[in-house]
Amino acid sequence: MSDTVRTFIAIEMPESARAFLARCQDRLRGAGGTVRWVRPELIHLTLVFLGEVASARLPAVEAAVREAAGGFAPLALEPRGVGRFPPRGRPRVVWVGVDEPTGGLVRLQKAVADATAAFAEKTEDRAYAAHLTLGRVQGGDVHALAEAVDAMAEERGRALEAREVVVFRSVLAPGGPTYTPLARVPLGA
Ligand code: 2AM
Repeated sequence: MSDTVRTFIAIEMPESARAFLARCQDRLRGAGGTVRWVRPELIHLTLVFLGEVASARLPAVEAAVREAAGGFAPLALEPRGVGRFPPRGRPRVVWVGVDEPTGGLVRLQKAVADATAAFAEKTEDRAYAAHLTLGRVQGGDVHALAEAVDAMAEERGRALEAREVVVFRSVLAPGGPTYTPLARVPLGA
């Protein structure tokens, strides 16, 4: 086993959300643009991407996430609005936003990010934007794709309850990434 692990911390999506995300992808498939679509079962809400972490430090990452997330109650999340990064010009990433009106998700994300900052390869200086990546744009008719995305800005999925935060290992491979849960931290335990 390599002695570092590519690590991120995320909230998994239930089947109802995956089905909604797959429908959004299907509607965008014919829109133009060459897009590497993410397999719906791999789509998750990332809270923090740590990058390579020494294996020996993974128990400490898990402990930090438990400490940070333990005090949070389960969160009601609403998939809402198809969008793109960057918001103007050539899109690079197509996503579905996540609404959580009480502010609990933002607080949870900040608590987990602060608690794990010492393990991160890089400090993230961009503001957190809760999103579920549908696909990564490679080229093609990106103008038509951007228009199709903007026309779906008001799409909504069914609300879901997030009951746990997961520490994932990511292994990149030519056939696509594999994500393996390393630790599951319940909310409201
Ligand atoms: P993304 O969906 O916006 O690409 C696993 O790679 C998860 O970590 C993805 O959800 C990805 O977000 C997120 N992530 C954040 N920063 C990353 C980075 N620098 N490299 C790879 N993934 C990153």
